[in-house]
Parts: sequence; structure tokens; C-alpha cells
Amino acid sequence: MAFDSATSDFTDRHLLGIEGLSPIEITALLDTAERYVGQNRQANKKSELLQGRTVINLFFEDSTRTRTSFELAGKRLGADVINMSVANSSIKKGETLIDTAMTLNAMHPDILVVRHGEAGGTQLLAEKVHCAVINGGDGSHEHPTQALLDALTIRRRRGKLEGLKIAICGDILHSRVARSNIHLLVTMGARVRVVAPLTLLPSSIGKLGVDVFHDMKEGLTDCDIIMMLRLQNERMNGNFIPSIREYFLFFGLDYDKLSVAKPDALIMHPGPANRGVEIDSVVADDFSRSVIREQVEMGVAVRMACLEILAQNLQEERETL
Ligand code: CP
Repeated sequence: MAFDSATSDFTDRHLLGIEGLSPIEITALLDTAERYVGQNRQANKKSELLQGRTVINLFFEDSTRTRTSFELAGKRLGADVINMSVANSSIKKGETLIDTAMTLNAMHPDILVVRHGEAGGTQLLAEKVHCAVINGGDGSHEHPTQALLDALTIRRRRGKLEGLKIAICGDILHSRVARSNIHLLVTMGARVRVVAPLTLLPSSIGKLGVDVFHDMKEGLTDCDIIMMLRLQNERMNGNFIPSIREYFLFFGLDYDKLSVAKPDALIMHPGPANRGVEIDSVVADDFSRSVIREQVEMGVAVRMACLEILAQNLQEERETL
């Protein structure tokens, strides 16, 4: 395999989270992803960069966007991509996460993409294997490639991240997307607000460098970007809202609440969206404002960048042994 790009400023073996990454490392990942946007719009989207490399997608939780885009990303770079179905695996017979990881490790993959229901599940696995690991989402902890694709979408639309007023709204408490986005956007100099009922905010929110609002119109005033989050019911233990109807009334994004943001404010959502719960259907489908489909497109480019850079780092690590 020949990498024609110079060594990236992102030199880690794994991509487990955004927390702790520097602006230079984040920019390196985004700049590499930018190169793939054009390639993905051509008729021939394939390159041979990762020929001979093996990528295994190991998803313990459901996914449409992340798993599909990692598969496409790997295939477009010429890698062999295996999607391991947890539902049909020996995990169903009681095999542990670690034993599963060691079994896959023995097959010499180059990159494992892992989504796990527990915060830290991906980190644990990364400590046991010899390949690179990308976190495809671990519990309520982090979803680094989602934050990168969101940042790429914003940067392409606004030309920068620094100084933008960005509101992240909804179920912050259970959201790995919110956590990764907060780390990335604060690191890159954006002015981040979170808007949520008290019950859907972590007690540690004050330490993350964001401004906190409990009223949508106050939180959205003069914002450049509005990111909506779904209620993460699969991670909820008990009742966090009085009713869906009331939640939509107070926290669902509709044109009335949107009217206080900047006139050209962009609407984002990582998906899957629950229409009529956190976002009005007509707002989600207003493609003069909504960049939800563009986020999905950027997801493939970002995942190609992550696979390229981690494969390059792994090769350099192996060559120095
Ligand atoms: N945004 C996101 O992670 O979507 P999926 O759950 O479909 O991968």
C-alpha cells in the first residue's frame, strides 16, 4: 500500500473520542475528509489506497448511517470490509466482548470499527487488540466521527467554526453526539449553547465550557447553527419528560422557535430524527435551512479520512518495530 499524502498531524493509533484532541489534530482529520468530498461526487469513487487492508465493522447497537458509511468508506478505499452481525454471532452464545475482540484480533484485521452500548466499551476493546480501533459510538460517551462530520458540514457552509454561535438542543444527558460535538466545537473556538430541560442535562454540564438554557427561544436567539437531538429512549431509565406532546411544545424545533435565530441559521440533526417530537417535519424537510442530508454525505468523506489516517499510522508503527 502506498500513501501519497505526507504524514498527518493526527498520529494516534485509535480514534476513540474527540476529548483531548487538539485543534491541529481535528483540522488534520477535517482537511483529509475535505479531499474525499469531491471524489465521492464522481462516477468512479474508488481508489486502491487501502488495498489488502481489512476493516471489520462490529456493531453491538443498531445503526443505519454509521455502519453503512464505514462500509462504503472502506470499499471506496479498496479495503476488504466485513460487517459482523452481532445478532448472528457467538456473542449470543455468551462469548464476552473481550473474547470476541481476541477472536477477531487473531484474524489480523487492520481496523475495527466498534459501536457498543456501554461508555468505555470501545476503549476496553482497543486495549486488547493489535489493530486500530475507531469508536462508532459508545453508550452516552462519545461518537467522534459524528462530531467530525458535523464540523465538516458547518465548515463547508460557513467557512469556519471559530466564533459561530451553535445551539445543541434536546436530550444532552444521554447523547454521545452532544458530548463529542461539545468537545470539538469548544476546542475549535465556537460559542456553544445547550438547550434542554433540567432533567435532560448532565450535572457536569457546567464543566464543558458551554452556556446552558432551558428555554428554546432564549437559547436560539442569534444562533448560526441549531443542532437538534432525539430523545435517546433506549438509554433512559424512568421518565424524563411529562409527555411527548409537552416536549414538542416546549423543545421541538418549529418555525416559531426558529424565528429568533439568524435568518440564515442552519438546521442540523445527526439522525435518526423523530418527526413531531424534537423537530417539526416541515422544518426538517426545509432544505433552504436543513443540512441533514449533507451531514450524511459528509459522513462518508469523514470515515474515509479516518480509515486512511489510521491505516497510515498503523503502517508507520509497524515499520518502526
Ligand atoms: N447518527 C448516527 O449515529 O446514526 P446511526 O445510528 O444510524 O448510525
